[in-house]
Amino acid sequence: MDFATMMAKRRSCRAYQDKPVSREDLLKIVEAGRLTPSGCNAQPWKFIVVDEPEAKEKLCDALVVMDGKTGAPWRFQVPAFVVLVETPAVVKPMVEEYYGHTQRFAQGDVGAAMMNMCHQAMELGLGTCAIGMSDQAKMQQYFGIPAGCEVRMALAVGYSAETHEAPKIRKSLEEICSFNQW
Ligand SMILES: Cc1cc2nc3c(=O)[nH]c(=O)nc-3n(C[C@H](O)[C@H](O)[C@H](O)COP(=O)(O)O)c2cc1C
Repeated sequence: MDFATMMAKRRSCRAYQDKPVSREDLLKIVEAGRLTPSGCNAQPWKFIVVDEPEAKEKLCDALVVMDGKTGAPWRFQVPAFVVLVETPAVVKPMVEEYYGHTQRFAQGDVGAAMMNMCHQAMELGLGTCAIGMSDQAKMQQYFGIPAGCEVRMALAVGYSAETHEAPKIRKSLEEICSFNQW
């Protein structure tokens, strides 16, 4: 599949077949994250693959916030997840000096890693969906994530049980792009 087709065809998947994802494929997906560029090459991330029943149960619990709200009511059918954790970045001194902290690029870096994972998964015939909201305290408790690190999203991975016929809903090119000025 060429790149433009891949961009046009990738969709978030919210219904999955009852079929496991191999560790080999999960590691290929993580490798796509590992190779992602990052500000100052800081690689401010840790990727936790969650594919065992007990760990998945805990993750599904941590994907609920406030009093029972979740972005992923469909989460229990997902065969595997990659939890993307933002870690403290070591950046060039001038970056820290200018912005006053080290994490200026880190969220973008983690987001880029996630998208590379999505497209690698797609090449492997797998569907994905980012899940943005999570209970940080539970994430830390369940997965031993140290203080100073923040879960940015969990990426659901599995064989899709969906078909997407409708076109993607996106702002028009005119609305989001201009040349040489705002
Ligand atoms: C950071 C981020 C967080 C997201 N969180 C959720 C979520 O909690 N639940 C969900 O169903 N989709 C979630 N999505 C998927 C978006 O809703 C989806 O990407 C968007 O509607 C565009 O649709 P598409 O991915 O099919 O092109 C998230 C996407 C991103 C990038």
